[in-house]
Amino acid sequence: MLPTPYVRCDYDTVYEPSEDSFLLLDALEEERASLGATFQDKLSIVCELGPGSGIITTFMMQNGIPTKDKSIYLAADISPWALEATRDTAKHNSCNGTYLEPLQSDLASCLKGREVDLLVFNPPYVPAEHVPEAPRMGEDHRMWLDLALLGGEDGMAVTKRLLDQLDNILSKKGVAYILFCARNRPEEVAQRMRHNGKWKVDLIMHRKAGWEVLSVYRFCRDNAI
Ligand SMILES: C[S@@+](CC[C@H](N)C(=O)[O-])C[C@H]1O[C@@H](n2cnc3c(N)ncnc32)[C@H](O)[C@@H]1O
Repeated sequence: MLPTPYVRCDYDTVYEPSEDSFLLLDALEEERASLGATFQDKLSIVCELGPGSGIITTFMMQNGIPTKDKSIYLAADISPWALEATRDTAKHNSCNGTYLEPLQSDLASCLKGREVDLLVFNPPYVPAEHVPEAPRMGEDHRMWLDLALLGGEDGMAVTKRLLDQLDNILSKKGVAYILFCARNRPEEVAQRMRHNGKWKVDLIMHRKAGWEVLSVYRFCRDNAI
């Protein structure tokens, strides 16, 4: 079992690593060998959306996911606190030799046409009336936490925006790992993506977490395998 990065953040502003974060770590560990084989011949661009504390990006950097010394890491979060935390977590875990670019961004808007080989997202997935707006300067910093959690209708508003852009974000062989809770109705989402003929979608791992069931799905182009 690969070690979990050491994380110490201000959890009044940054999402504290929880069951969902750990499920994604386990899923990436399970996928590590096949990702390594897929991307062994090239420099890979890895992008985590919403890195929060940076635990997942740091885990990928530490363990050479998908490829050791041949991957560069982009970490794109809407929250400036998350970017600072991501930088700190990478530093505390001695990832200094690996290229990391934390970017403040609404989803993948920072990519500006750069294609991503490995995309990871633990989104705000809790169903809520609406997705909160980003707090303005001077507003209570703790409002950033609402943004980390609340996912609007069915908890899917943010994830749906990403899925709509996936075709423009992923490279030809690109793979995305996205976390869902049961209330997001992930099987229906997966079915819809499969039906448009472009995507192969697989459930990689699921786990009960209290009264919630969390799952990680893998998305790649149907013709990529
Ligand atoms: C559930 S937390 C996950 C944090 C971390 N990846 C983990 O697994 O512990 C969701 C993260 O997404 C970020 N986020 C929310 N909406 C976003 C958006 N529109 N664009 C980029 N990041 C966003 C939040 O700031 C937060 O850091």
